[in-house]
Amino acid sequence: MAAPGIELILAPLRGVTGLRFRQAFVAHLRGLDRAVAPFIATVQGPRVKPETLRGIDPAAQPAGLPLIPQVIGKDPAQLRVMLGAMRALGYADVDLNAGCPWPFVAKKGRGAGLLRDEAALGAMLEAGCDALGPGHFSLKVRLGLDDATLLPKRLPLIQSFPLRELCVHPRTARQMYEGTVDLEAFARVAEACRLPLVYNGDIRTLGDFLRLSARFPAVRRWMLGRGLVANPFLAESIRAGEDTRDLARFRAWHADLLERYAADAPGDHALLGHLKELWAYLAPTFRDGQRLWDALKLTRTRAEFERVLALSPLRWA
Ligand SMILES: Cc1cc2nc3c(=O)[nH]c(=O)nc-3n(C[C@H](O)[C@H](O)[C@H](O)COP(=O)(O)O)c2cc1C
Repeated sequence: MAAPGIELILAPLRGVTGLRFRQAFVAHLRGLDRAVAPFIATVQGPRVKPETLRGIDPAAQPAGLPLIPQVIGKDPAQLRVMLGAMRALGYADVDLNAGCPWPFVAKKGRGAGLLRDEAALGAMLEAGCDALGPGHFSLKVRLGLDDATLLPKRLPLIQSFPLRELCVHPRTARQMYEGTVDLEAFARVAEACRLPLVYNGDIRTLGDFLRLSARFPAVRRWMLGRGLVANPFLAESIRAGEDTRDLARFRAWHADLLERYAADAPGDHALLGHLKELWAYLAPTFRDGQRLWDALKLTRTRAEFERVLALSPLRWA
């Protein structure tokens, strides 16, 4: 087995790696050790509605893929309320989002915006570590907002708390998902960081993983996001040390995921919304993926979507 002693973690991608994705993954694929759930925003008031927590309902989670819920917010009192609700569901570990780059989030001091305000970040880390106990609260960050200097500045504060781990996506918020990951900046953070460190960003192939893990041998925790959505066999392939993609298993996984989406969706329109979001990632994995994606985008019903897919030969790119 390749890569012994490492952990592969499913990244939170809101609207993509939610409950149904995780269920279908576990039913058909392997290779992931755990998952971080897409963020749940803190709420005002003393109670969290059950609907808010539906995606992390423990009864619905697939066995074999331990889940860590994630919170986004900036108010320590609201964080405590949310952590209380998550603990009541049985979660011992929770992650804090300090990386969401969307301007409407970051401008309000949440997500990556939390990095700007040292006092607010410190208050959130203190509340989280106090509510969950040492080693149970974690943080997911970017390098900074406009440049890569902010995270190194905040590192002494961050690692003054007994966090479970620090997950770094080495882009700035300004970059959104464009440009390249800044591996020099990640190396500087890794050098200075005493907390268990998770690398996250642009691992799309086994080759990417091998290059990155050779460059950062001390990093044992690796988070896979868009690369795993585009190629659901990615974690398996990293474990096996070879490409394990298989079209029959892909089709079985996809049919299962489609059924799960359909069970939740009030109609074809909502279902196609989910499927098209998924296929925006999946299409480049296939030869002639652009042509397939163009055809899928035009479909208006579940039947049409399934017909286009069934008629497509599907060959790996
Ligand atoms: C559509 C989308 C939704 C995302 N939602 C979240 C989220 O809820 N919480 C979070 O911490 N990061 C979120 N991210 C960021 C990813 O977790 C990850 O950090 C980023 O995609 C880089 O990793 P990758 O190159 O492996 O995808 C999201 C990214 C995308 C593209």
